[in-house]
Amino acid sequence: MSVKPWIPQLTEDGSFTFFSEEFGEAFHSRYGARREAFVKFARATDLVERSQRGCVCLLDVCYGLGYNTAAALETIWTANPHCRVEVYGLELDETIPRAAIAPPLIESWSPEVQSILRAIALEHCYTTPQLSATLLIGDARQTIQVLSAKRFQADAVFFDPFSPRRCPQLWTVEFFAQVTRCLKADGKLATYSRSAAVRSALLEAGLQVGTIPLGDARLPHEWSQGTVAAFDGRSLPPLSPMEQEHLQTRAAIPYRDPFLSDSAEAIQQRHHQEQQHSQWESTSSWRRRWGIE
Ligand SMILES: C[S@@+](CC[C@H](N)C(=O)[O-])C[C@H]1O[C@@H](n2cnc3c(N)ncnc32)[C@H](O)[C@@H]1O
Repeated sequence: MSVKPWIPQLTEDGSFTFFSEEFGEAFHSRYGARREAFVKFARATDLVERSQRGCVCLLDVCYGLGYNTAAALETIWTANPHCRVEVYGLELDETIPRAAIAPPLIESWSPEVQSILRAIALEHCYTTPQLSATLLIGDARQTIQVLSAKRFQADAVFFDPFSPRRCPQLWTVEFFAQVTRCLKADGKLATYSRSAAVRSALLEAGLQVGTIPLGDARLPHEWSQGTVAAFDGRSLPPLSPMEQEHLQTRAAIPYRDPFLSDSAEAIQQRHHQEQQHSQWESTSSWRRRWGIE
């Protein structure tokens, strides 16, 4: 098998990411790969509070370089060094976690977490009394079914595929329905996407949605840092009126993949046709109404 040359790219917080030629996107926000893992995933899913229960189960959808798992472990063990963690990662391309254990990428993590990332990348599993970590390699549309068959239930799901435009197969109602089967009754799913199509797919899959507020992040042309979802919406930061209205526009038509097997092109085409026939308000008029460029 030929090994792809994954070239580290510096992001604004000093941590590194990769760029995928295949998907035409970077793996992380250019504002900071490490920062993104802590703010949009570890913090948004309340890992400090959950660590006090003594045991936390995590599902890392699109493990990639492993940053979301790494940030979660550092967050949990800083808050409660005795907390036990069970984590499953889903990833298509095993060359990515392996490329990510080389310096300088891995150096942004503590020595303990570096050893764990190395073991996960090389062995795809790692077990100690405090941690059980497993990386399932393959299309997440199939590997998620392994987890739901064994009734795995996560306290926190990190949902981190490439964008819906580039990788629609992982943002469909049907895939979210599979992921939702692996979420505990009081668990939370977090994603960097604040797209209306993603939020409406989560709603159709049976979850309530909230926003990840911008906070002190200064991100031009952004109104949110992402989405957090749960069965019970009362613990979620509410959507603003602008975000709620976004869910009534054509942008909110979700992606669909009835048998979890269609190509990206087929899913895009189905989505496009559904948008063409929709009577909902156009997204451009919503943008004009709210003064979004
Ligand atoms: C945005 S990156 C994830 C970044 C990662 N969470 C991190 O912290 O490094 C998206 C990842 O999804 C993976 N991917 C793409 N299609 C996939 C699929 N069908 N099933 C599982 N993983 C997939 C890519 O290989 C890539 O590693």
